[in-house]
Amino acid sequence: MTELLYLDTLTAGWPGQEPVLHDISLTLHRGERVGLVGPNGAGKSSLFLSIAGVLAPIGGVVRLNGRQVRSGQFLPDVALVFQQAEDQLFCPTLAEDVAFGARNMGLAGPALEQRVAQALAACDLTALADRPVHQLSGGEKRRACIAGALVMQPALMLLDEPSAALDLRNRRKLIAVLRQIDQALVIASHDLELVLELCPRVIVMDAGRIGADGPARDVLGDARLMAAHGQEVPHSLTPHEDDAQMHRTKTGRVC
Ligand SMILES: Nc1ncnc2c1ncn2[C@@H]1O[C@H](COP(=O)(O)OP(=O)(O)O)[C@@H](O)[C@H]1O
Ligand SMILES: [Mg+2]
Repeated sequence: MTELLYLDTLTAGWPGQEPVLHDISLTLHRGERVGLVGPNGAGKSSLFLSIAGVLAPIGGVVRLNGRQVRSGQFLPDVALVFQQAEDQLFCPTLAEDVAFGARNMGLAGPALEQRVAQALAACDLTALADRPVHQLSGGEKRRACIAGALVMQPALMLLDEPSAALDLRNRRKLIAVLRQIDQALVIASHDLELVLELCPRVIVMDAGRIGADGPARDVLGDARLMAAHGQEVPHSLTPHEDDAQMHRTKTGRVC
């Protein structure tokens, strides 16, 4: 597999504050899908901003496609999808919003239109192309943000809490959209079932450090490890007695 992202002993923080990321080392390959889990304040969003060249490293290295990332640099190979869709959508219509990133990369005319149409279709939004962004539902806004990232055809997409506040139908649609994406994905989420469905690998972050990094079922299924980081093993990895069996044990008979 080809190395896409390489972090070596990264330390980073917000200006004027103590570092919030400590000694982060990881390698990500092209097309890999990784779930990033951990409690609030663990540093997941800060890590995304460091990878995207927004937060400058205090120490260590971030390398993308073999090149060192420097803060403030335009990085067409990384697209960050924000937690709050409203932070990302700002053009009058959905199609214009999705076109923004591709236009910034120098695309115009039919090539731009084709790119936008592809991104909208990949996110099941074709029918809403001319809709004002403020008239989109929460689920549509979330997919609009993903389309706005996809249109740049980045090698790596960083998705911050993509399923937060989505209803079941929109969450399912989001999973279907993400499943089709070829790019490497890092998905920061408290939705561990979504992570299990989409990501073969999971990284646990806690207090700005990596607490675990390994196969999703091994990491998420490790009750002791999860508890140590304020997490719970997701329901689908928890052994369950069936209800009748439980009832039999409690009452001595099955009702
Ligand atoms: N814009 C910001 N300015 C200053 N500190 C911040 C900012 N955003 C996050 N932090 C701090 O960085 C630490 C990590 O937060 P964050 O990266 O948002 O964690 P997570 O995404 O895992 O919830 C926290 O201590 C938080 O207070
Ligand atoms: Mg966050």
